[in-house]
Amino acid sequence: MAIVVPRTGWGEESTGLAIEAIGIEKSFGQTHALSGLDLEVPAGSILGVLGPNGSGKTTAVRVLTTLLSPDRGTARVAGYDVVTEPMQVRRNIGLAGQTASLDESLTGSGNLVMVGQLCRLPRRRAQGRAEELLIQFDLADAGDRGVKTYSGGMRRRLDLAASLVTRPPILFLDEPTTGLDPRSRLALWDIIRTLVADGTTVLLTTQYLEEADHLADKIIVIDRGSVIAQGSSDELKAQVGGDRIEVTVAAESDLAAAREVLAHHAEGVTHVDPDRRRVDASVPAGARSIPAIAAAMSKAGLLIDDLGMLRPSLDDVFLKLTGHSADPVAVHSEKAALA
Ligand SMILES: Nc1ncnc2c1ncn2[C@@H]1O[C@H](COP(=O)(O)OP(=O)(O)OP(=O)(O)O)[C@@H](O)[C@H]1O
Ligand SMILES: [Mg+2]
Repeated sequence: MAIVVPRTGWGEESTGLAIEAIGIEKSFGQTHALSGLDLEVPAGSILGVLGPNGSGKTTAVRVLTTLLSPDRGTARVAGYDVVTEPMQVRRNIGLAGQTASLDESLTGSGNLVMVGQLCRLPRRRAQGRAEELLIQFDLADAGDRGVKTYSGGMRRRLDLAASLVTRPPILFLDEPTTGLDPRSRLALWDIIRTLVADGTTVLLTTQYLEEADHLADKIIVIDRGSVIAQGSSDELKAQVGGDRIEVTVAAESDLAAAREVLAHHAEGVTHVDPDRRRVDASVPAGARSIPAIAAAMSKAGLLIDDLGMLRPSLDDVFLKLTGHSADPVAVHSEKAALA
């Protein structure tokens, strides 16, 4: 989706914040899509806005990109107020929406040239910029093909390219990789990282915990239109109690004994999963306690199939904070198997 006003200057920069929102509220009838959203994004960094379906991500992006007026609260983007100075805001931002909005009747190149011309670039410059972007986004070979022949990943890349025609210093990406296969997702992550390395500020919404984990300098977790947690990925993970040790026994009949052994080394509740013949618990010493636990299991005569460390995922964080899972597929665990 293209915000089609050419870039000019940058507003007051005294705060060093490229994006700042304070107490944003927005309702649609009885639905409180945003209920006092606060966020800030220092210039040159990536903020990950993580939340499940309907948590208010797109509404937040629409308010910050001047497409929607807030009911209450204030927001500044590039130093400009989104309500009273929308044109100045638009001159400084790019937006790639949740669904790619491309002109199906045009080629890839045609779409980019059209955006350039809507941004009042002379045709020659618009064509030059389109060529550059097609190369940068690995679409050079497909530039002359109709967009209707593009795959989902190609569309997302072209849509992102369209948002960059005017080289905006601030970029809003609303679920840029939802629905993409892992390879296309990695390719887009690379592009986003390169943009930030070149100084672009990015606000990215995602339902993928792994995406926020990999890309964002800071993450805010939103649910029902307000921030329920924030910090770096590690800080958020620390909120659920650090590392866990997980032991799989060979025989289900050994589960109770294994639980007892593990409980000696653990703090808090020891979970038992009979179906998988597993026990797990939070262990203060983390990986350092693995040898002692293995030795104790062996001494108790328990045959172990697997013993490993389970690092908390952002999904665990989400579950703990909201009582519901964000994305059951994106479980991201690291195991340090012993054997
Ligand atoms: N134009 C609208 N009219 C009525 N309700 C709306 C409108 N836009 C959003 N909502 C509602 O506001 C809430 C937040 O929606 P929003 O699209 O911001 O969520 P989201 O976090 O982007 O979800 P998703 O992950 O599905 O994209 C939802 O309950 C949604 O149904
Ligand atoms: Mg959305």
